[in-house]
Amino acid sequence: MNQAALHKLISSRKKKKDLNDLFELRLATNLTLIKDLFFSIYGKNRNTEFAALLQKLPKLFDKRPEYLKRQDIHRLGIGNWYQSEQMMGMQLYVDHFNKDLKGLQDKLGYFEDLGINFLHLMPITERPKGENDGGYAVNNYTAIAKKYGSKKDLASLTQQMRAKKMYLMLDFVVNHTSDEHAWAKKAKSGNTRYQDYYYTYAERDVPDAFEKNLPEVFPETSPGNFTYIPEMEKWVMTVFNTYQWDLNYTNPEVFMAMLVNLVELSNMGVDVVRFDALAFLWKKMGTVSQNLPEAHAIIALFRMCLQVVAPGTILLAEAIVAPKEIINYFGTGPTKGNECEVAYNASLMSLLWNSIATKKTALLYKSLIDIPNKPNDATWINYIRCHDDIGLGLDDRLIQELGWNPKGHRKFLLDYYCQRLDWSPAKGMLFMHNPKTGDGRITGSAASLLGLEKALLTKNKTEIDQSVAKIIMLHGIILAFGGIPLIYAGDEIGTLNDYSFLNEDGKKEDSRWVNRPKQDWDVIKALKKKKSPQQRIHDTLKMLIAIRKKNPVFADHSNFTLHHTGNQHILLFERTSKSKKSVLVLCNFDDNPQVLDGSLLSKLGYLKNQEFHEMITATNNKLNSGFLEVKPYQLLWLQK
Ligand code: GLC
Repeated sequence: MNQAALHKLISSRKKKKDLNDLFELRLATNLTLIKDLFFSIYGKNRNTEFAALLQKLPKLFDKRPEYLKRQDIHRLGIGNWYQSEQMMGMQLYVDHFNKDLKGLQDKLGYFEDLGINFLHLMPITERPKGENDGGYAVNNYTAIAKKYGSKKDLASLTQQMRAKKMYLMLDFVVNHTSDEHAWAKKAKSGNTRYQDYYYTYAERDVPDAFEKNLPEVFPETSPGNFTYIPEMEKWVMTVFNTYQWDLNYTNPEVFMAMLVNLVELSNMGVDVVRFDALAFLWKKMGTVSQNLPEAHAIIALFRMCLQVVAPGTILLAEAIVAPKEIINYFGTGPTKGNECEVAYNASLMSLLWNSIATKKTALLYKSLIDIPNKPNDATWINYIRCHDDIGLGLDDRLIQELGWNPKGHRKFLLDYYCQRLDWSPAKGMLFMHNPKTGDGRITGSAASLLGLEKALLTKNKTEIDQSVAKIIMLHGIILAFGGIPLIYAGDEIGTLNDYSFLNEDGKKEDSRWVNRPKQDWDVIKALKKKKSPQQRIHDTLKMLIAIRKKNPVFADHSNFTLHHTGNQHILLFERTSKSKKSVLVLCNFDDNPQVLDGSLLSKLGYLKNQEFHEMITATNNKLNSGFLEVKPYQLLWLQK
């Protein structure tokens, strides 16, 4: 970009006419890239379609509200706001949290009290009445489903959030629509133009050829990747559920129509757009049709266009794929640095669950070393639980290097978490288990998976304490790791599994609902009155968040160093700030105390007269005979 012109714009008084300069400046910067990407995806003879895209962009910019254009300019001036230590997220279902959007707005104080300034609201757009994959089957990308409220309610919420310097993330379900979306309805009625918005086939030969290589996302409830639609007398590609039709991005009209939806979403005041299931955007016969180069090009094209029209909005990649693939969604090779600013750290998530079950950190270390560094301008969303299952996205090669059998190891993890081992404290559920292959995934709330449900049932005080310690330790890691920590609503008060879904049609087949509970306001009310495991979890997390926000060392400047300790139960990493301040994060994944040689702390500069300073307890502590003893599941943040 013409930096001088941009600086002038940022420091100018930004009169209305100046705001339009923003568009020209951004277009000048991105035009070549947009053009190259467009023609690389759609082929050289698509001049008409490209001209249509160029005509669309200024129209989309005109529709962007003036206050958001001002915010865009402000954000361009302040750098990567999403890497700040101030970022602290929570993910929630609006209806399960407090009824609807208005109800949510009434609770903004709850987030402020806890230190949360970034909200991911699960889908709130119109969806089919029956099964709808928790709203991930979209009838209309810009219409709010009545049960959540209206566009006005959303506008009021975003306005208040902006006033409180809070950020909003909403989903863009970019890979598929529901079978009730207007496009799908037109396709069903025989309109071939809209049939081309999807992958539709009159005969089985193409679907059969695809099926040879396509894996199944929901093998139990939605086997196969194509669904026959009698009205249309055609098969349509449905990689997820039968009612989620995959969009055909080989058709440039689909890209254009979805770009309009994306910009409208951003114009509603959304700061971060969550690109749902983006690894699936391109399909190619003979491949698994995930992570294909064309999918990356489409994402980059969306981003380059969005940067012209709404440059203050950023993208999050929901790519729950192999560790080495995730990093590519920041943009590598031809799309270098031009895809998403943020990505879910799904690898860290599954590795942490692996370490809890094995009580060892070896695979965590091996994998963290193996994953290439992320680009400096990018960041992670670090999380423990979300609304989805825990997939075992572990690298078989690394499991093998540890001398473990990958298949056997995966089976152990499923056994440990899904109540197939008596001694395991976890109370999780199997998700999409395939008895033939033994493959499966895990669901359950963080607290239930970490033993709180079982310990409360058996009233075992030691186990309650251990479970609370585990919950705090895992959160302490995501708070300190580098990136935006995202707490799943309810986890801050140790919410247990919710089994009510088993009685609900449209939900009972999908055990992910066990971890989509109602926010328990009675528990929250009682927090101040009496000591309880919930109160300990809540108050400790609140304190950890406050410490994070006070210390810029927690901001993400790619300032992460992993330290080896020689103790297989310990995780030790360091964060160093630009001003040379640092923090050393130390955790014990074992249920026995572990020791760390003081000489390592001394070498790293954290010992002074055999004493070290711990930030969470704000205490100075002495070594014991030259060793630091770390209690079971203890979390320490040491400061020099
Ligand atoms: C994403 C969502 C998941 C949904 C899927 C299909 O992975 O997180 O809940 O089922 O996309 O939209």
